[in-house]
Amino acid sequence: MKNQHRQQKLLNQLGAGALVIVATNLEQLRNGDVHYPFRPHSDFWYLTGFTEPEAVAVFSQEDYTIFLREKDQKREIWDGERLGVDAAPEILKVNQAYPIGALKTQLPQLIKNATTVYYDFKPCALDDTIMECLATTKTQSLGKYLHEMRLIKDDDEIALMQKSADISVETHQMAMQQAKPDLFEYEVGSIFDGNFRRYNAEHAYTPIVAGGKNGCVLHYIKNNQVLNDGDLLLIDAGCEVQGYAADITRTFPINGTFSNAQRQIYQIVLDAQLAAIAAIKPNEVITTPHKIASQIIQQGLINLGILAKNGDLKQFYMHGTGHWLGMDVHDVGRYQQGNQDRKYEVGMVTTVEPGIYIRKSDKINPKYWDIGIRIEDDVLITKGGNRVLTQGLAKEIDEIEGLMR
Ligand code: GLY
Ligand code: MN
Ligand code: MN
Repeated sequence: MKNQHRQQKLLNQLGAGALVIVATNLEQLRNGDVHYPFRPHSDFWYLTGFTEPEAVAVFSQEDYTIFLREKDQKREIWDGERLGVDAAPEILKVNQAYPIGALKTQLPQLIKNATTVYYDFKPCALDDTIMECLATTKTQSLGKYLHEMRLIKDDDEIALMQKSADISVETHQMAMQQAKPDLFEYEVGSIFDGNFRRYNAEHAYTPIVAGGKNGCVLHYIKNNQVLNDGDLLLIDAGCEVQGYAADITRTFPINGTFSNAQRQIYQIVLDAQLAAIAAIKPNEVITTPHKIASQIIQQGLINLGILAKNGDLKQFYMHGTGHWLGMDVHDVGRYQQGNQDRKYEVGMVTTVEPGIYIRKSDKINPKYWDIGIRIEDDVLITKGGNRVLTQGLAKEIDEIEGLMR
């Protein structure tokens, strides 16, 4: 079983006497009797494969225990079936299962013989109980080890990420073909809602559907404005398949044709993105893509008279060029190794997402005002260099204009 293989691999790094405790999320109230759709905690999901809320797994070289919700006929009529304590050993391959309510009494027994307990405190109601039980025990960070494992994706994980990339690519393409002046941002956004669900996928994060100047707001999620002829549309949207995310941004003209000013800025971002991707390969330091993208954007903006020679690039490019991608959109895994920037390794997945954002300013030619452009793809590091998981999606100017005709 995949999850137990991962447990074993983790335990092998932790040495004799190690005990791991990992908890999942609780359901969160949205309002009244209504809950948000439940999403398991990524660490717990990765190690157990179990997707019910309110559960804790405890495992060592010798033993695997799960605490989970009990069967409850009344609750199951309202909320659906639960695995329950009796069925858990067979289905989850645990040695024993207890009701989650027994955590406080049973956990001290399980901890008793451990040399070191590995656990990460997170804001979760189960924390208090676990913390009480751990009061006198030597505890270490689990994430320090687990997150390095999660950073390197195996073939099954890459297949799921390719699937979420493919669905997201297809949907961005639909959005490019259907967007037109006078639609509202949420109307284009609904293409993503519908097509993701059609594949039983979810949004991996709240999408950004930003027309015109809204594209300059980095975390714009209102998505409620009308799309104007002559403006650009920036869409940052990606789905999640069985817990694995895609993260894609495209920016294109709402009327299907880039203006000259938009074309100039777009080409700079595209050149920066392509050069940054080309640099990604095993053993390259992970800061290289940002350095390359920043240089190209800086020079491009200087050439157009938008940025002074000694000006601050951060006025127009104020975020990083990438982040780890996996079960979390901003995935776990360190960016540094000791004091040094780490290097890419086979099986890592990073986004590459340079952008330029030009707000109204007396110092800038008005033809460039309110242009916000980001281009984002998902890149797997391979033996030979890299593979762009989101390769299929148009990003050259001619390609985009052709697709929109
Ligand atoms: N969609 C979040 C990000 O691009 O980082
Ligand atoms: Mn991203
Ligand atoms: Mn994104």
